[in-house]
Amino acid sequence: SWPEPVVRVQSLSESGIRAIPDRYIKPPSDRPGFENQEHVDIPVVDLKNLFSHDHTLHEETLKLISSACKEWGFFQAVNHGISHELMKCTREVWREFFNLPLEVKQEYANAPTTYEGYGSRLGVQKGAILDWSDYFFLHYLPVYLRNPSKWPSLPSSCRDLISEYGAEVVKLCGRLLKAMSTSLGLKEDYLQNAFGGEDIGACLRVNFYPKCPQPDLTLGLSSHSDPGGMTLLLPDHDIAGLQVRKNGKWITVKPVPNAFIVNVGDQIQVMSNAIYKSVEHRVIVNPVKDRVSLAFFYNPKSDLLIEPAKELVSEDRPALYSPMTFDEYRLYIRTYGPRGKTQVEFSGSNR
Ligand code: OGA
Ligand code: NI
Repeated sequence: SWPEPVVRVQSLSESGIRAIPDRYIKPPSDRPGFENQEHVDIPVVDLKNLFSHDHTLHEETLKLISSACKEWGFFQAVNHGISHELMKCTREVWREFFNLPLEVKQEYANAPTTYEGYGSRLGVQKGAILDWSDYFFLHYLPVYLRNPSKWPSLPSSCRDLISEYGAEVVKLCGRLLKAMSTSLGLKEDYLQNAFGGEDIGACLRVNFYPKCPQPDLTLGLSSHSDPGGMTLLLPDHDIAGLQVRKNGKWITVKPVPNAFIVNVGDQIQVMSNAIYKSVEHRVIVNPVKDRVSLAFFYNPKSDLLIEPAKELVSEDRPALYSPMTFDEYRLYIRTYGPRGKTQVEFSGSNR
């Protein structure tokens, strides 16, 4: 179990404290600098033409996706084909879940063995500095790991919405993976097959960032890159929070209405032999508003060896990573918590 008694950040926030406990205070170098906001934003990609039969339009969209994955590791996808109503209902049902009484949520309290359920920390180091957020983590795929009895039974529409939302997002992830494969010069099904074909993994992490009396001292989620394959984030609709690292600066993403924020995870960085980048990101919190976000992780089957595609390895560009399963790989973040990009960066060819 956890190294210390679990404190729900939402309870702390709702207690009306004016100063946050020391455990949430980041060292000065990690604190958000609200002063120098950059006037740039991550690319926006219109997916309408990805699904078009017009060859030129299709190719143009692939180029946009490719340059976003190389330069930013992130883009906002619009005209992605998923119902805006479904997105909104799913996000709002989760907001209602977090607004239920503590006792109801505690029935789903999680443990670091699987992380499934209601949680308030990532990592099991005793005395670690914690992030200002609670979350709910669940498995969607493979089906044998899916256990709807571990999903919230309240609000009553929650389980059905998770199923429906998951099915739609999985479909979209499949399409994006094809686009990424093709734009890397690989066969259309390369990445999907390397992920395990039909046997991919998919999990949902719903983040709840309670309002914070001292947002300049802490983070909602510390800097990290996503360990898995690809992430589709549904951010809250009228409040920013996500920051992406670009040339050493933190760029605050301004969510485009009804868009998904797509980002490359470490496993695609490995498979693409670092042509596509899994980029560091973090979350800042807000003094007056709670924020809800849904991060859907599309991952390789967890016991497959993941390695750079042979087609992307040459004498000039040797393989930057040696094979490793995603099960082994994610032990790091599950032990140490979010710590920038240290894992994929420094593990090099003997990671
Ligand atoms: C994550 C994540 C960003 C956000 O859950 O991995 O990066 O805006 N979330 O909540
Ligand atoms: Ni992330």
